[in-house]
Amino acid sequence: MLANMDHELYQQLAEVKLLPLYTVTDLDCLDKLEEVLVKNDVRFIEVAFRSDLAAEAIKRLAVSGELIVGAGTVRTLAEAKVALENGAKFVVSPAIVPEVIDYCIERDVPVFPGTATPGDIQRAMEYGINVVKFFPADIYGGLKAIKALSGPFYDVKFLPTGGINQENFMEYLENDHIIGVGGSFIISEALLKKDDGKSADENLRELVARTKG
Ligand code: 3PG
Repeated sequence: MLANMDHELYQQLAEVKLLPLYTVTDLDCLDKLEEVLVKNDVRFIEVAFRSDLAAEAIKRLAVSGELIVGAGTVRTLAEAKVALENGAKFVVSPAIVPEVIDYCIERDVPVFPGTATPGDIQRAMEYGINVVKFFPADIYGGLKAIKALSGPFYDVKFLPTGGINQENFMEYLENDHIIGVGGSFIISEALLKKDDGKSADENLRELVARTKG
């Protein structure tokens, strides 16, 4: 069984509070991505398996060693294997994928299964997981749902993603049951390509400043 919250990575995420979800279509943006994240002390990145470049991007970012690199949108065991072989340190899935969870737990790699209902959370807990992704947060009741779920699941921490944005992320982070928020609003390739990353840097700086109150 995985003593989930004891893993150092969860403590690090609880400090940073922001988990950028990033889809790679251009490997040339990775240097700028890393530079902007490091500059703003957001040392986490979730590279989504939504493009053919995910594995290569994980590898390049992991080798550099500046960021804690994870894999997102991991729906199959094959993707989990490729992710870890290329240096991913954590895995995020949109749902509960038993073979992905087993594979990660056997290797003591933090895995965030996607949950949206009490049944999902119960299943995750049966694997010894007490930090879950809550997805898609906006569709499944947002903060109101997390507050309700935190009644029976008082010992679970949530990572809401899906529909989190500049306007609502702080409302989520003010809740003690939320370890951090994830999503594409934190940084994106489109923003990095604009004005040599200046907009991406400013956007991230503002988000980080707000997490620090
Ligand atoms: C995820 O997989 O976490 C979501 O697709 C993120 O959704 P967002 O683009 O609304 O942040």
